[in-house]
Amino acid sequence: MKILLLGKNGQLGWELQRSLAPLGELIALDRHSQDLCGNMADLQGLAATVQTLRPDLIVNAAAYTAVDKAESEPELARTINALAPGVLAQEASKLGACLVHYSTDYVFDGSGAQPWLETDTPAPLSVYGQTKLEGERLIQAACAKHLIFRTSWVYAARGGNFAKTMLRLAQERERLTVIDDQWGAPTGAELLADVSAHAIRQVLKHPQDAGLYHLAASGETTWNSYAKHVLAHAARAQTAIKLIVKEVAAVPTSAFPTPARRPLNSRLDTGKLQATFGLYLPRWQQGVDRMLAETL
Ligand SMILES: NC(=O)c1ccc[n+]([C@@H]2O[C@H](COP(=O)([O-])OP(=O)(O)OC[C@H]3O[C@@H](n4cnc5c(N)ncnc54)[C@H](OP(=O)(O)O)[C@@H]3O)[C@@H](O)[C@H]2O)c1
Repeated sequence: MKILLLGKNGQLGWELQRSLAPLGELIALDRHSQDLCGNMADLQGLAATVQTLRPDLIVNAAAYTAVDKAESEPELARTINALAPGVLAQEASKLGACLVHYSTDYVFDGSGAQPWLETDTPAPLSVYGQTKLEGERLIQAACAKHLIFRTSWVYAARGGNFAKTMLRLAQERERLTVIDDQWGAPTGAELLADVSAHAIRQVLKHPQDAGLYHLAASGETTWNSYAKHVLAHAARAQTAIKLIVKEVAAVPTSAFPTPARRPLNSRLDTGKLQATFGLYLPRWQQGVDRMLAETL
């Protein structure tokens, strides 16, 4: 089997390079790739790449993820998050290939306190959310053999992340202020990549399981509780890191005005994914603690 991976160096793309490797011959591209176009802003180049490679599976980990910047660059965000996935879907459909794509809790408006189901009506609050929703719809219209995973609060050990930022600030300041009215589940890129590989194997054998799924770690938290969890872990770990922080104050989202509005309720109901693929999603603390063990 030939696999084309786009966005190979993002948080998720990096982990997919690992988890997809045993499934087949993997061709992994990023926007700077030389011989084949991996630039999601070049729609013709992207189509030519698929036509040249003729993959059996396309996995798109590339995205315009700068949520605030998207408010001032809506056309570029739309090209990368909507039009490019739409082109990949058209090209995959011509070849009978399967397309795997990732979307976000930001397609919802964050109202209420119940975990969102796949059947709930999206109502994005931001350009990023709108473009990700349009991407889902273009894929659904063009290519039946697809897997779209909506996820939330993605982190990885590689590169920067929220936990590392909290650890840094906690060494510099006695008081941190962290939002406590946005709810969700921090989800490791490792977990996303591993679950993707399992689901892909099943869909290749049983195409009727293709579709849209919510995929996030189990449990729920706020950014404030997440920060406290990270700092408590670091304090217990007794590493060379010297934390001086004494207080992690809880503040509402309104305390940090940003160009893009964010949903308060980012809980995702993952029952459909767990039942369809027979998979178990561990609690968010398990992945975060593992990432911290690698980081500290
Ligand atoms: N991060 C989150 O909290 C979160 C939450 C919910 C859903 N998601 C979704 O999960 C997926 C993976 O996200 P992630 O966390 O892995 O994001 P990420 O770390 O920001 O990675 C995105 C990748 O896309 C690449 N990219 C951007 N513009 C491109 C272009 N024009 N051509 C080719 N590549 C381009 C970036 O490359 P450069 O490094 O060169 O810019 C980067 O490698 C995305 O679909 C995202 O929407 C993420």
